[in-house]
Amino acid sequence: MTEKKPVIVVHGGAGTWQPERSQPGLEGVKRAAKTGFEILRKGGSAVDSVMEAVAVMEDDGAFNAGYGSTLNIEKQVEMEASIMNGKTLQAGAASLLKDIKNPVRLAKIVMEKTDHILVVGEGAEKLAKIFNLERRSPMTELRLKYHEQQKKILLEGKFELPKLYNLVKNHPEFFELETVGAVALDKDGNVAAATSTGGFPLKLPGRIGDSPLIGCGTYADNQAGACSATGVGEIAIRLVLAKTVCNFIEDGKTAQEAVESAISLVNKRITATYNSMGLIAVDAHGRIGAAHNSPNMCWAYLTPEIKEPVASLTAKIVK
Ligand code: GLY
Repeated sequence: MTEKKPVIVVHGGAGTWQPERSQPGLEGVKRAAKTGFEILRKGGSAVDSVMEAVAVMEDDGAFNAGYGSTLNIEKQVEMEASIMNGKTLQAGAASLLKDIKNPVRLAKIVMEKTDHILVVGEGAEKLAKIFNLERRSPMTELRLKYHEQQKKILLEGKFELPKLYNLVKNHPEFFELETVGAVALDKDGNVAAATSTGGFPLKLPGRIGDSPLIGCGTYADNQAGACSATGVGEIAIRLVLAKTVCNFIEDGKTAQEAVESAISLVNKRITATYNSMGLIAVDAHGRIGAAHNSPNMCWAYLTPEIKEPVASLTAKIVK
């Protein structure tokens, strides 16, 4: 089999990137793309590439994943992550994590060392202990500040928490969804995807979003490609969005056409005011795709043809 040209695409989340956070975000996605690509360049696997790329963003502090995760209504962090191998269709995910330094590493352990796909809460914490995963408090000053701002608005009665639509209808600017993710194709033609997040600000304890759900936030299949989603998890779940992108690719669309079609689908089918979504993808031919309906999506890519990662705060905006 002829060797494929490796490629990686990463995202640091869709939403509104405030000016003061833009530069750290762009630097962070570039570092993540570089780290993941270096693994591919040395002949490493797409799975290792997306895991290390996502781990870089989990450690960064500029993103809503790992260190810097958003806080739930009880001022606690509950992180979640997933990973999928497009060669074998094996997948792993973990959720409701309080202090695992790199949730994506635990997702890979679930994929490779257990017979399961999704392990949450205490069970996940136990697994992390058995495999000696590093711990770190994910709380940052910035997230604590955001939490106080968001809670003040809530207490003023300007939105109602249990109804997500009502909650975000008037104040979408308070909801920043900087989930992180990566998709890659390695030289052997294998694709993989990984996604990691702190979830939705002010979410209820125990709420699980799209990021750890295979098919919703993450999907990879060598017969199509790989996709990672960012945005309102409940929307990605209802449209099984990452798998939908892969289905579009399998039906003959390029990665770019597929992510644009999926965002169009969101716009058409989910008519709530706040339906912010972003998608990155790579197809089995190594073509990349990135699209969103939010004002921004922080993302980067790297291929053998270019020396440095290309990063941007916008991709194709589909309205
Ligand atoms: N997409 C991240 C979340 O909604 O949890």
